[in-house]
Amino acid sequence: MSDEKSFHMTPEQFRQYGRAVVDWIADYYGKIESLPVLSRVKPGEIRAMLPAEPPARGETFEHIMKDMEKLILPGVTHWQSPNFFAFFPCNASAPSILGELFSAGLGVQGMLWTTSPACTELETLVLDWLADMLGLPDRFKSGSKGGGVIQDTASGASLCALIAARELASGGRSNEEGCDGRLVAYASKEAHSSIEKAVKIAGLGRDNLRLIDVDERLALRPEALKVQIVRDRAAGLIPCFVCATVGTTSSNAIDPLPEIGRICRQENLWLHVDAAMSGTAAICPEYRHIHEGMEHADSYCFNPHKWMFTNFDCDCFYVSDRAALIQSLSILPEYLRNKATESGAVIDYRDWHIPLGRRFRSLKLWFVIRHYGVEGLRYHIKRHVELAQEFAGWVEQSEEFELAVPPPLNLVCFRHVAGDSFNERLLERLNQSGKLYLTHTLLKGAYTLRFCVGQTHTDERHVREAWKQIQSVAAEIER
Ligand SMILES: Cc1ncc(COP(=O)(O)O)c(C=O)c1O
Repeated sequence: MSDEKSFHMTPEQFRQYGRAVVDWIADYYGKIESLPVLSRVKPGEIRAMLPAEPPARGETFEHIMKDMEKLILPGVTHWQSPNFFAFFPCNASAPSILGELFSAGLGVQGMLWTTSPACTELETLVLDWLADMLGLPDRFKSGSKGGGVIQDTASGASLCALIAARELASGGRSNEEGCDGRLVAYASKEAHSSIEKAVKIAGLGRDNLRLIDVDERLALRPEALKVQIVRDRAAGLIPCFVCATVGTTSSNAIDPLPEIGRICRQENLWLHVDAAMSGTAAICPEYRHIHEGMEHADSYCFNPHKWMFTNFDCDCFYVSDRAALIQSLSILPEYLRNKATESGAVIDYRDWHIPLGRRFRSLKLWFVIRHYGVEGLRYHIKRHVELAQEFAGWVEQSEEFELAVPPPLNLVCFRHVAGDSFNERLLERLNQSGKLYLTHTLLKGAYTLRFCVGQTHTDERHVREAWKQIQSVAAEIER
């Protein structure tokens, strides 16, 4: 040890505090069910408790840890609570957290193969594993013309798919000259807002996003898609991209990939499949049908950070033709040139997404898959779907509540029969109770409650308790 002045934590301190942090997290999970799921703080309350100025002198780690408990925890909404049924889940698991810790510990930045070969090669392997686990076509695996990459989010993945489609359709001119206002993209009215964002960022313009009608199940109507494409071509426009959703955010509707895919092939359009949450279900053979028609897709994404026990952020993005993606995003400045890249024998993932730098995210996925094995993942995912279906059964049997749509997987959309304002008040009261957290949407114009089962530790007792709570709070509200 040198005598030079240092402010760093010593290895011994790191060991000591590292253990304390892991203990803290384990204790947090131990007591999580006793905490109000939705944070109760008011806007500005957390900030007001924190010092306005940064500390001039370093503070003890014990002091920082105390503030985690006292100042931060009250402002946390407990996404990892088994009583979290809101939005789509963003679940995590112990092996994933530990994989993330390794990633932080190694502190690798894997923009190029050469900046950490293991970061690239493990990622390629794990994405190939996942392609097999989800039953994706071989075209999406690294041994073919395609391949997979980890992105931050489904939003980023869909944007990259759109950029690749834009460049293919414009013969590379959009990157050189900008868009000329003629390229058109398509998605259903129920597609996630990230598609609209992508269209804006990619320069197609929101006016050139066609939101196609949906059917009774809220899935995209292929005939309406076809009619719109023909109309756009007749108007001198250039259709280039279709996004189909496997598991829409509002209702979990599954767009008909075989029909949409056939239209995309006939019309020579890029088909991107956004399976952000529901893609995970395909790990189970009994739900694999959600990927029927994937042979037509040019790209696909799903988020292990939603439902596959892998903490945020982790989206898996696949393309069937990696050259199209790489050509649309690649720029090689002198300072990134290196022998491995020039040999052509390696993958440089920097060209597969928007940021240059990248974390060693595949570690947490590798840890999750190795810890659970395919068997463990299938077991827990199937269990979530079964619990949601059980809940849907109770809703169906009740005279007070009704299903808004039949639930395809683990999301139940339902409402009390007393109407919109009643359901709004019901939701508000339920979430204020702290005992559970649900969110809402509008389906066919009606205020609808969403109950999504996907938190790692959600079990039958949590779902039963939630249903009891929903019924008893509803009984207290005036009609
Ligand atoms: C269907 C769908 N697509 C995309 C997204 C966006 O996900 P991300 O936060 O990874 O961008 C979501 C988020 O819930 C979603 O439900």
